[in-house]
Amino acid sequence: MIERIIVLGGKGGVGKSSISAATALLLSDLLPEKKILLISFDLAHNLTDMFNLEIGNNLAKITNNFWAIEPDPDVYAERYTGELVDKMKTLMKQMPLIGMIKGIEKSIDETFTVNSIPLALKNAMFFQKILDAEGYDNQEDFDIIIADFPPTGNMIALFEIPEDQAKVALKYSLNFYNSIREAFKNFSKVFRQVLKPFDNSNIEERRELGKEIFNMVVELEKRGERITELIHKVGSLRLVTIAEKPSFQEIKRARDLTQKYIQLDGIHINMLIPKKHAKKCNFCGQVSSIQQNYLSEIKEEFKHLKIWESDKLKEEPIGLDGLRKLAKEVYGESKANDILFPIKT
Ligand SMILES: Nc1ncnc2c1ncn2[C@@H]1O[C@H](COP(=O)(O)OP(=O)(O)O)[C@@H](O)[C@H]1O
Ligand SMILES: [Mg+2]
Repeated sequence: MIERIIVLGGKGGVGKSSISAATALLLSDLLPEKKILLISFDLAHNLTDMFNLEIGNNLAKITNNFWAIEPDPDVYAERYTGELVDKMKTLMKQMPLIGMIKGIEKSIDETFTVNSIPLALKNAMFFQKILDAEGYDNQEDFDIIIADFPPTGNMIALFEIPEDQAKVALKYSLNFYNSIREAFKNFSKVFRQVLKPFDNSNIEERRELGKEIFNMVVELEKRGERITELIHKVGSLRLVTIAEKPSFQEIKRARDLTQKYIQLDGIHINMLIPKKHAKKCNFCGQVSSIQQNYLSEIKEEFKHLKIWESDKLKEEPIGLDGLRKLAKEVYGESKANDILFPIKT
């Protein structure tokens, strides 16, 4: 059963992916009895580079109790809506008139492909991975999920999706259906008389197909509701920023925009210039003093939340050792529970 879904958000380049990976790795070290899954929700996946390991659309085992995945939305779209698309196509081909027009089958096959599924619906596929992780379809079940999210705009779009995915699927299907119907309206006026005897030839079959399509949309809707419920219950958003204006602005916006979807629990202020270096040169001192000003502003703005501060490390936090160093920098000696359920100190 999923006990916690930690979502990391914030501007690009501030360290979301690195902190996500470091958090997942640290939790797997601290909680050997729990199964941890790190999911990249960003279409621009970069877990592979961070772990120096080939991570793709299938679960990659990182340690004994820690897996990572970069879901390919196309593959998921195929898996979860491919069947729906097939049934819609069959239904259309069986529609009176349309099924009898030469070349229409080919045209339907070519237009109605997984590639034509709207991006919104494809993005929804990332969430299907969470349901898989829950064992929704008796697949793997994980205890803790860490989700590395894309920058704010796309993040909001992602949160909107689960509840709407069935509607998006329906609208998409209807649009397609209507466009075909329109195209052949005139044609049918002319030939209606001629084709009339065939009109109801396979009405039973079509009714059955219609029912199956309806049930699939209901199932899609149920999955969407389950995801929304999970995120409300066990979701925990942490926003990552650096001590600079644009990134600070972005997390304020992200806080306001995500309010209704997920609980915001903490702020990561990353890549601070280490104090000892600030003293070493004039330039470092100046940059550091600007950072300290933003640091205070950020802490004031989010004073009701847990704040994690982390310095900029000398080396890029890459590979297991690098990520463990970053985890140490971010969380120090914190206990797993304080990372999972932070309270303001
Ligand atoms: N605390 C840190 N110290 C040094 N380098 C860091 C730190 N945090 C992140 N990085 C590096 O900064 C770059 C951007 O980090 P990344 O996690 O990819 O950001 P995001 O996912 O927000 O785009 C990467 O090269 C990463 O290795
Ligand atoms: Mg990233």
